[in-house]
Amino acid sequence: MTELLLRGRILTFHDEPLAGEASPETFTYIEEGGLLIRDGKVVVAGDYAQLRAGEGRNVEVIDHRPHLIMPGFIDTHIHYPQMQVIGSYAGALMEWLNKYTFVEEQKFSNQGHPERIASALFDELIRHGTTTAAAYCSVHKASVQAFFTEAHRRNMRMVAGKVMMDRNAPPGLLDTAQSGYDDSKALIGEWHGKGRQLYAITPRFAPTSTPEQLEMSGTLVREHPDLHVQTHLCENTAEIAFVAELFPWSRDYTQVYEHYGLLGPKTLLGHCIHLTDAEVGAIANSGSVAVFCPTSNLFIGSGLFDLARLRASKPPVRTAIATDIGGGTSYSMLRTLDEGYKILNIQGQRYHPLRSFYQVTLGNARALSLEGTIGSFVPGAEADCVVLDARATPAMRIRMETVETLVEELFLMQTMGDDRAIAEVYVAGRAAKSTLTS
Ligand code: GUN
Ligand code: ZN
Repeated sequence: MTELLLRGRILTFHDEPLAGEASPETFTYIEEGGLLIRDGKVVVAGDYAQLRAGEGRNVEVIDHRPHLIMPGFIDTHIHYPQMQVIGSYAGALMEWLNKYTFVEEQKFSNQGHPERIASALFDELIRHGTTTAAAYCSVHKASVQAFFTEAHRRNMRMVAGKVMMDRNAPPGLLDTAQSGYDDSKALIGEWHGKGRQLYAITPRFAPTSTPEQLEMSGTLVREHPDLHVQTHLCENTAEIAFVAELFPWSRDYTQVYEHYGLLGPKTLLGHCIHLTDAEVGAIANSGSVAVFCPTSNLFIGSGLFDLARLRASKPPVRTAIATDIGGGTSYSMLRTLDEGYKILNIQGQRYHPLRSFYQVTLGNARALSLEGTIGSFVPGAEADCVVLDARATPAMRIRMETVETLVEELFLMQTMGDDRAIAEVYVAGRAAKSTLTS
């Protein structure tokens, strides 16, 4: 049986490095490292020479020195039908949705369109070092089929679901409470747990679902408590006012989801910017995850995610970070970290580079309740890896001349890096970037 031994500097996290390099127990960094992979899984990360000596003739060595080998990046919120929405010139959220997004998403009923975009999406994710994503498909069942078919073909671990929306959108984008339930149910049966695919129950957000649809979404959650739930919450003030009109009985926006049984440890809440204290408490107590989408929040002008406030709550709100393509403007988790850093910094919440790289790997894996499966190099984890090159561009090379530490290098890659800094990507132990055909 052939084993694969990746040679290079290895970085993987065991916990959040709250004190940066002063919490060395939270990460492993091996300068002369090796990552041994068998059957698509991590055997062990360790010292290269020792691993090499312990292995027989059958081990294939790939030398990535001087690059840094890390677990593949995880994007916890992306809309795959919005590849052709990125960079649309709109005011705020509601205009952006109505003028561009809802128009574009209707094209997913066209023959061949979902397949073409799904293929382009996975190429783009790989190119940027993202090996797992939690994705919204469109309202059309065929969009989910195309997404999972392509993810399964590439053996990538994905979380995705059919968007459910039965009001306040063009007729071509509406399902009904019943058809949303039936279609979701059929897709769960077909895809959840098939290979590396995981299904997420996906009511788009409260403004586009009737109470009946939210009720049916809650039924799905009760029937499939192990599934993820993904939706949007408190991104924009006009959106919040609209929810107050639509659900006048509710104390606030969060209580709408709470009422229908949609909060819980598998629930991913995109944005969470404009929250009352009661909402922060409800999210924290439910164990739901607040998903920070920096490039989107800046681009659509939604507001500043207050990470420190969420983390200071008791219990702390669980958090994740994501691109939110196509409100977001980059597929790159490096670009996303950079913009996230700026949003936090402007609020006096400077974020250590080690915490950033923890977040896009183990941190996001924990947010998806997939610790041990992805996001680290613990033995038995799926061998999704990214190989990072801090000298990928002339400007990075010049800057690297003055870089002396790992932390400085990480911060440079976060600040200046993009897809060019991704030298290679492995999906379940298979080279995926160098083998892209387009
Ligand atoms: N709220 C509801 N739908 C969307 C979406 O597609 N993108 C963003 N950013 N917010 C939303
Ligand atoms: Zn979104």
